[in-house]
Amino acid sequence: MNLNVLLGLQWGDEGKGKIVDVFASRYDVVARFQGGPNAGHSLEFDNVKHILHNIPSGVFHKNIQNIIGNGVVIDPVIFRKEIDELKEKGININSNLSISRKAHLILPTHRILDAASESAKGKSKIGSTLKGIGPTYMDKTGRNGLRVGDTEGNDFHDKYRFLKNKHLDLLAQYDFDYELEEKEKEWFEAIKTLKEFAFVDSEHTINHLMQQGKSVLAEGAQGTLLDIDFGSYPYVTSSNTVCAGACIGLGVSPRNVGEVYGVFKAYCTRVGSGPFPTELNNSEGEKLQKQGNEYGATTGRPRRCGWLDMPALKYAVMLNGVTQLIMTKADVLSSFDNIKVCTAYRMKDGSLIEHFPYNQYDIAEPVYKEIKGWDQDISQVKRFDDLPGAFKEYVRFIEEQTGVPVHIISTGPERKSWIEKN
Ligand code: GDP
Ligand code: IMO
Ligand code: MG
Repeated sequence: MNLNVLLGLQWGDEGKGKIVDVFASRYDVVARFQGGPNAGHSLEFDNVKHILHNIPSGVFHKNIQNIIGNGVVIDPVIFRKEIDELKEKGININSNLSISRKAHLILPTHRILDAASESAKGKSKIGSTLKGIGPTYMDKTGRNGLRVGDTEGNDFHDKYRFLKNKHLDLLAQYDFDYELEEKEKEWFEAIKTLKEFAFVDSEHTINHLMQQGKSVLAEGAQGTLLDIDFGSYPYVTSSNTVCAGACIGLGVSPRNVGEVYGVFKAYCTRVGSGPFPTELNNSEGEKLQKQGNEYGATTGRPRRCGWLDMPALKYAVMLNGVTQLIMTKADVLSSFDNIKVCTAYRMKDGSLIEHFPYNQYDIAEPVYKEIKGWDQDISQVKRFDDLPGAFKEYVRFIEEQTGVPVHIISTGPERKSWIEKN
């Protein structure tokens, strides 16, 4: 009766969507437990790329039940767009997607508040995806939020108006222009689409399925270093992205967590503002961005790129209790003569530390270990044994440092591009 959890160990975009899609056929259920349309999960098969925001990445497998859990925040407008795009591709998921009544709704005014808040912050802005995530979770914890289950009540419109008026009062404090009427119309239209899906008390659904012996995969969004508690606060998202978040966001006891799959890129990327100790503002960073096609799946923004950060990775492994590592984008490093891994930080006060510090802006520079590159395209390799020696050395080093085995190595964006390491 296990819930396996798959999540990101860095600043998001580790390739979670692709890996969930690879694993999905081994599961009966795939469930999202936090985040919302700030997520952009890419899946590629049969030469077509799909990007999912609100919808779990199991939807391309016919016999899988997909659940949007209570910890998720949903924008009905983005949800409807995703549904329509899938329908255009001949994929109808009405019968295999259910939504928790307890998931919170992102209102048009949440999105406007997000934009107004970011604009007022000027240079210190978070670099939010502007999807209304922060304001929606603020209303959730402030006990003002509107939930999916509220759409079933006769007083839904009254509740909506009450919350909207609260938001309008808040917006009056900002010097920020906005349009609302059209957005509201679109939002109420989209609510109709949302209501075509089964609303469930997903904590009961999931626990019941688990009791029946069904296997459940919890799909994380964002990454550990964007966690509201443990990430590089305040440059984080507004939910718990770590493994414990799966228990909260689905209503599953921690005793039922089985495998914890930690997905990480063979290097690092970050979108938006905030500290990034190993960031490369040079031609190597540009090369990683180009070779890795590092542009945000949700906002299209270029992703900042840098070398693998071992203290940060070890921190993420510890917080999540990772049992198996999954390395993605290994192919992107192929053309580098030498690659680097940060193993410690030289702090501004001259000290040397090997842990992820409270304030990452106190880091003066990363201390690197240089590793020989492998001048060989690995995108077509199918067996671990056939990988270049230098690459295997890189994997061994990561396993030794983290104390966790690397289970899967992803070698390209396509569903078929991965290697299992025994
Ligand atoms: P997610 O948010 O964690 O699901 O990741 P994204 O989809 O936002 O970003 C990952 C990007 O890398 C997408 O464009 C994927 O298609 C791509 N990708 C995933 N795995 C690999 C890989 O092993 N190699 C390469 N070259 N691209 C990959
Ligand atoms: P996936 O699931 C990468 C970043 C934003 C910003 C910060 C806060 O695709 O990995 P928010 O909109 O949540 O208030 O933004 O978090 N961010 C992500 N970065 N991948 C994501 O999701 C992200 N979701 C949010 O860029 O810095
Ligand atoms: Mg993404």
